Formats: sequence, C-alpha cells, structure tokens
Amino acid sequence: MNYLNMDEKKLLPVVLELNILLADYNLYYQKLRGFHWNILGKNFFDLHIKFEELYNDAKIKIDEIAERILTLQHHPVSQFAEYIKLSDLKEVTPLMKDIEMVTELLGDHKKITNSNEGDT
Ligand SMILES: [Fe+2]
Repeated sequence: MNYLNMDEKKLLPVVLELNILLADYNLYYQKLRGFHWNILGKNFFDLHIKFEELYNDAKIKIDEIAERILTLQHHPVSQFAEYIKLSDLKEVTPLMKDIEMVTELLGDHKKITNSNEGDT
C-alpha cells in the first residue's frame, strides 16, 4: 500500500493504460500539427482551423493524463520513442490529400476510444 492506500499491484495496470493513452494522445497531437501545417486544397480554411482546435484540445488532455499519473505517484512517459512503442497509432506523412487526413484522424479516434476493448 502507498500513501493513497491503493494496492500497487492493482495500480500498475491502471498506470500502464494511462501511459498508453498518453502515448496515443501525443502521437495524435503531433499528427494534427503536421496536418494543420500541410493541409491544401478547397477545404483548407475549414480543416486548418479544425486541426488547430483538435490539437489544442489534445494538448489539454495530454497534461491532464500526465498529471493523473503523477497523482498516482508514478511517472508519465515523455519520450516519443516510448510513445511509438506504447501506442497503436501510427506516424504518417502529412503530405496527403485532405480526405485522407480526415480518414486517418477518424481511425485514430477509433483506436483511442477503443484502446481498452478486449482487454478484460
Ligand atoms: Fe497555425
């Protein structure tokens, strides 16, 4: 037991899941930055703004997840090499068509929201 009176054995899988979620959000955040910078075409204005809105939201969530891990007296992962190992999300070139960017992000949303499915 630690000062929170939480069983460390039960806590470790929770911390791992939180670090996986942190990894997912960091890869997602950086992908959004790349898409924001490189979006071209007739949907430029809508998507350039939408990608910025989404990465700003992700930035807030990243900090909340990391601080939750710290509250549990563990360390949030902070290196991209570790994020790539932990996450199911894949890095992609940002040099793609607008519709491909949106499709890529929808796939990431599905992975992030379903990351615990099948684990129980
Ligand atoms: Fe910008």
